[in-house]
Amino acid sequence: RIAGPSVLVLFGVTGDLARKKLLPAIYDLANRGLLPPGFGLVGFARRDWEDQDFAHEAHEAVRKYARTPFREDVWRQLSEGVRFVQGELDDEEAFDRLASTVHELDAERGTGGNYAFYLSLPPKLFPTVVTQLKRSGLAEPEPGGTAGTTPWRRVVIEKPFGHDLASAQDLNAVVDEVFPPSSVFRIDHYLGKETVQNILALRFANTLFEPLWSRNYVDHVQITMAEDIGVGGRAGYYDGIGAARDVIQNHLLQLLALVAMEEPLSYSADAIRAEKEKVLSAVSLPEDLSTGTARGQYAAGWQGGSKVPGYLEEEGIPSDSITETYAALKLGVDTRRWSGVPFYLRTGKRLGRRVTEVALVFQAAPQQMFPRSDVSELGQNALVLRIQPDEGVTLRFGSKVPGASMEVRDVSMDFTYGQSFTEASPEAYERLLLDVLIGDPPLFPRQEEVELSWQILDPVEEHWARSGQPDQYGAGTWGPESGQALLARDGRHWRRP
Ligand code: BG6
Repeated sequence: RIAGPSVLVLFGVTGDLARKKLLPAIYDLANRGLLPPGFGLVGFARRDWEDQDFAHEAHEAVRKYARTPFREDVWRQLSEGVRFVQGELDDEEAFDRLASTVHELDAERGTGGNYAFYLSLPPKLFPTVVTQLKRSGLAEPEPGGTAGTTPWRRVVIEKPFGHDLASAQDLNAVVDEVFPPSSVFRIDHYLGKETVQNILALRFANTLFEPLWSRNYVDHVQITMAEDIGVGGRAGYYDGIGAARDVIQNHLLQLLALVAMEEPLSYSADAIRAEKEKVLSAVSLPEDLSTGTARGQYAAGWQGGSKVPGYLEEEGIPSDSITETYAALKLGVDTRRWSGVPFYLRTGKRLGRRVTEVALVFQAAPQQMFPRSDVSELGQNALVLRIQPDEGVTLRFGSKVPGASMEVRDVSMDFTYGQSFTEASPEAYERLLLDVLIGDPPLFPRQEEVELSWQILDPVEEHWARSGQPDQYGAGTWGPESGQALLARDGRHWRRP
């Protein structure tokens, strides 16, 4: 799988995402030989840059963040196709200049008239950009193209896709007017992670797990996405959005869908998306949202040996902000397979450590004839999908302790990527950018999934908006008391990852 000739136009090129993820990912693709010689990259931003300034910044970003070793010849080949267009997003003349630059580059590099537009921008700017793309003629390919084949146009949009159901629908209506659904690639970078793609492989390429994968054996499911970082320099984006809109609406509900869905008929975008949508339509909220959800905001504390400020003391955060930096939900999946099995989701900033995992916790054996030599973490079997950073899968089960008595203790059986594979996992954005350029959509959620996810979250957000200040938790801890209580009420507890 190698990308064909194309131009990638990047909006928001001076932002963090471009510098830390997108530009390095483009270089890594080139370095792995996955980009054709006929590739061009055009940056668009307000910054007063020339082509060479953008190339210089891209070079810095690549040297700092690329996964693969730096090779001068690869960089030279790539940088010859780098252009920059300075302008405001609402300036028609700037888009006319963009169009000329793209067409010139197309002719020079032989990119076949194939253009992808990556909107690494706040969602409120999407409508302006897609409208400008249409007006400047960039959104629609000219029949024939320079390489004699029918060229394509694709648009890539970064989350958040709106901030609730209504705004997501409005946003989609605008995009839909300009680009057909098959040309719209919505990025949820979790789907680009190897370990997330592996959920389908683990479940459906094997016979071992699927028979256990239901209410018959699973007691409950825990999905944790914990971060140790705070809001950092992203106050402007994060405040008013909060943890649930930032990552539950997308990453965590996508994980839930992959874990809970039925086997798709094939590994095709339509089949996978259809199964995910069925699951998302079957998700139910707890009857009482005050006990079935929890939210928190980090207070000052210690992390990694240093003192860190609380959320309200972070730069750019209003001192009376009620934005949550921790969110936990108890969800049901009302299907024959999952009825009665709670799915507990939690995420937070400034938690104990950075870890994302999905744990299927199995029912306890109906009776225990052996004494247990420890009060094990769960006293229950568990299958843990270690999404990051220690990528792999762990199976926890009881085993006899060597010695004269018949005592049982919990042990782990581990699969670790680094030990089983010599290939390093590509960065999620690398995989997703390649898929965009190839036109391969299975890893991109479609609008229906986005809307279903907002439908799940909207009542929770409305409830929280009425509830005032979130509970406080110390930075470096595992979240507020209310987050623990969410499971304790059901006689369960969060795993210590
Ligand atoms: C992003 C969120 O989608 O995911 C960030 O907006 C979060 O707030 C990030 O930090 C985490 O990504 P990862 O890949 O480091 O888990």
